[in-house]
Amino acid sequence: MKLAILSRAPRAYSTQRLRTAALERGHDVKVLNTLRFGIDLSEDEPDLQFRGRQLSTYDAVLPRIGASITYFGTAVVRQFEQMDVYTPNTANGISNSRDKLRATQILSRHNIGMPATFFVRNRADVKQAIQQVGGAPVVIKLLEGTQGIGVILAPEVKVAEAIIETLQSTSQNVLIQAFVKESKGRDIRALVVGDRVVAAMRRTAQGDEFRSNVHRGGSVEAVDLDPEYEATAVRAAQIMGLRVAGVDMLEGNDGPLVMEVNSSPGLQGIETATRLDVAGAIVDYIADQVDFPQVDVRQRLAVSTGYGVAELQVHAGSEMVGKSLRDSGLPDRDITVLTLHRGTSVTPSPRPGKVLEAEDRLLCFGKLEEMRSMIPERPKRRRKVKKLARTAITAAENPPA
Ligand SMILES: Nc1ncnc2c1ncn2[C@@H]1O[C@H](COP(=O)(O)OP(=O)(O)O)[C@@H](O)[C@H]1O
Ligand SMILES: [Mg+2]
Repeated sequence: MKLAILSRAPRAYSTQRLRTAALERGHDVKVLNTLRFGIDLSEDEPDLQFRGRQLSTYDAVLPRIGASITYFGTAVVRQFEQMDVYTPNTANGISNSRDKLRATQILSRHNIGMPATFFVRNRADVKQAIQQVGGAPVVIKLLEGTQGIGVILAPEVKVAEAIIETLQSTSQNVLIQAFVKESKGRDIRALVVGDRVVAAMRRTAQGDEFRSNVHRGGSVEAVDLDPEYEATAVRAAQIMGLRVAGVDMLEGNDGPLVMEVNSSPGLQGIETATRLDVAGAIVDYIADQVDFPQVDVRQRLAVSTGYGVAELQVHAGSEMVGKSLRDSGLPDRDITVLTLHRGTSVTPSPRPGKVLEAEDRLLCFGKLEEMRSMIPERPKRRRKVKKLARTAITAAENPPA
C-alpha cells in the first residue's frame, strides 16, 4: 500500500518506527508535515495539495496530530476521508478524544467505568460539584491538557475553589474529578489497534507525585492485562471512533476507570517496556483495512427521503420477545437489522433465526415512519409549569447576560 504518515516530527521515535515498520513490510511510505497541506475545495471533487502541488494517490493515511494543531490537522484528515482514503482514526474520533469533557460525555452512556466527573462554570456551583464527586482531595483538570500538565490534586475544598477560580479567570475550562486514591500514582496504558490490545504497560509516578505520565518522570513496566481491562480499553477506543489509540485507565477498587483515550499514542515507552513491535502491528492493521474506507453510515443511508437509521428497543411486553427476527414482523415492514445489542454484547448482521429477548436493542435501517412507533420512549422528566408573576418583568429585574 501507499501510506502517508501525517506528522510534524519526522525524527521523533514514533514516526521513525512507523516509517521503518512500513518499509520493512514493503510498503511505500511518506512522512508528510500536516501543516504543509492545502485543502482544495475549488474543483468538483475534494482534493488535497501538499507543498503547493497536487497530492498523489494514497491508499491510507495515519494521522499523528499534535494537540496544538487539532483544528487544521483534523481538517486535513477529514479531507482524506472525503477522498475515500482509509484512516484508522477519523477526524471526528480525534476531535472527540482531544477534549477531556467531550470524551467523558461520549463514553458516559456506554457503561464504561470512569472516575466521577463534574463540569461547572459558575463559581457558586463549584463547592457543590466537589461534594458530588466525593469531596477533597479532588482532581482538577484542564480540558485540553496533555503530558500531565494541567492536572492538579487539590487537598482541600478551599484550595480547589481558589485554583478553579484562578483558572476560570484566565478563560480556562476545568473538570472536577474524584481522586482515585487506590490507584496510588499508577495507571495502565493499553495500546489498542483495531479490536484488540496489542501491548500494555503500567506507569508508576515518581516519588510522591500522583501523575504517572512518563513526561512527569513516571516509570514503565509491561503488564499482562486482565480481560476486563482489555475489553474496556477496546470498547472505549471503538466508541471514540479510534482504531489506533492509547487508552489510560486507573485501577479502581471495582475495576478499570478510563481517564482518557489518546489518538496519537507515543510508541517509545510502550515498545521499550514490552519489547513488542507495536509500530508493526499498527502498519499491518492499516494494510488489512485499506479496502474499507470510513463511511459515515447515517449520512450515506439517509440519502433516500424517508429512510434512515434508528435504534429500536424490544420492550419487555412486546410481541417480538421470543420470536425470531424472521417472524418478528420487521422484514414485512421493510426494516433491516444491522446490529443486535444485548447487554454489552453486539451481534453484527444477526441471522434471520436469531431469537429476540426483552431489552434487546436493534440498530435498524428502514422507513422512518415504520420505525417511529418502535423507538424507545425517552425517560420522562417531571416538568413543573409555574404561574407567571402578575406584574410584567421589567428590564431591571432581567439584566442582559
Ligand atoms: N482522577 C484521578 N485520580 C487519580 N489519579 C489521576 C486521576 N486523573 C489523573 N490522574 C493521574 O494523572 C495523570 C495524568 O492525567 P490525564 O487525565 O491522563 O491527563 P494528561 O492528558 O495530561 O495525561 C494520569 O496518568 C494519572 O496518573
Ligand atoms: Mg494521560
